[in-house]
Amino acid sequence: PPDNLARTPPMGWSSWNKFAERIDDRTIRAIADAMVATGLRDAGYTYVNIDDGWQGTRDAAGVLHPNAKFPDMKALADYVHAKGLKLGIYSSPGPRTCAGYEGSYGHVQQDARTFAEWGVDYLKYDLCSGEWFYDTADTVKRTYYEMGAALRATGRQIIYSLCQYGRFDVASWGRSVGGHLWRTTGDITDDYKTMADIGFVRNPKFPHAGPGGWNDPDMLEIGNGGMSDDEYRTHITLWAMQAAPLIMGHDVRLTSPGAKALLQNRAVIAIDQDHRGLQGRVIREDGDLAIWRKDLVGGEVALAMFNRGTQPITAVVHPEDAGLSSIATAYDLWGEAAVTRTTDPITVVPHGVVLLRVRDQ
Ligand code: GLA
Repeated sequence: PPDNLARTPPMGWSSWNKFAERIDDRTIRAIADAMVATGLRDAGYTYVNIDDGWQGTRDAAGVLHPNAKFPDMKALADYVHAKGLKLGIYSSPGPRTCAGYEGSYGHVQQDARTFAEWGVDYLKYDLCSGEWFYDTADTVKRTYYEMGAALRATGRQIIYSLCQYGRFDVASWGRSVGGHLWRTTGDITDDYKTMADIGFVRNPKFPHAGPGGWNDPDMLEIGNGGMSDDEYRTHITLWAMQAAPLIMGHDVRLTSPGAKALLQNRAVIAIDQDHRGLQGRVIREDGDLAIWRKDLVGGEVALAMFNRGTQPITAVVHPEDAGLSSIATAYDLWGEAAVTRTTDPITVVPHGVVLLRVRDQ
């Protein structure tokens, strides 16, 4: 990678899934506090991302100012930084953002400089409005390149998140325009059906993911209440197996013990953040059972047994599933017991998952 950013998939929080436009300075500060208090920061979630809805109007010189809910963006960035966290912000290449706020059209370099002056560390750049113009891969690619170059020109280290729903084959060129992650799918919602469709089906461009640039199947819904604990466990396991960015989307102040256990499992985070940076993929399917594999540093392998159905499934993993001639040890990363004998059948609950870290000696 040309810079040292996003060597592993970015981790943090974004305001959109829970708050949408109901955001303000006070809430963002309180979320930053809660990221520290819950231990989520120390588990690796460091970006605090303000999504759509912070923008006000431009002044006579064209400088974009936040709206009244964000009186001082630089002070907010300072506050977030003092907590050992980083600040993210949001804009669009068109005249309007997805929620109808002021976009960066005609002000790309100026906005990049403004963000850098505030101390912003992450920009999500979301392709809304201007559809009459952004209708070919070439124009879209060019417009994303323009902001990428503008961010680099500020001299500040800023993660660049591309968002245009996987259209125009973004996975194949996201990295070349300076992107560190690129959305591959439509918006997630807080239900099993949408999450499973995105997670199991819609994010398969695995050869393009790697250190410095990641496929982004959208943010997490854990903690928002629309799925069961087993379904949320599937959600984060699928994201970890795909080396996806882990951007939380709930009210961190109200993190339940259950959500915390899912978000803070260090062994699962380590699968996501593994330094080989390979995106895992499905390698065997048998009815509602889907076995996914992700190769890790040092020849270890993560194997996830997902049950996509509504009845329990009992199955045995094979060494070939992991590309090994035998499995000597297996750690059950969600289980109570540290080690499972993989020659024994394993039961996976409906909509649930068993995640193993295996090696052959
Ligand atoms: C799009 C994006 C969402 C969010 C909203 C904001 O729908 O995909 O993640 O940023 O815009 O308006």
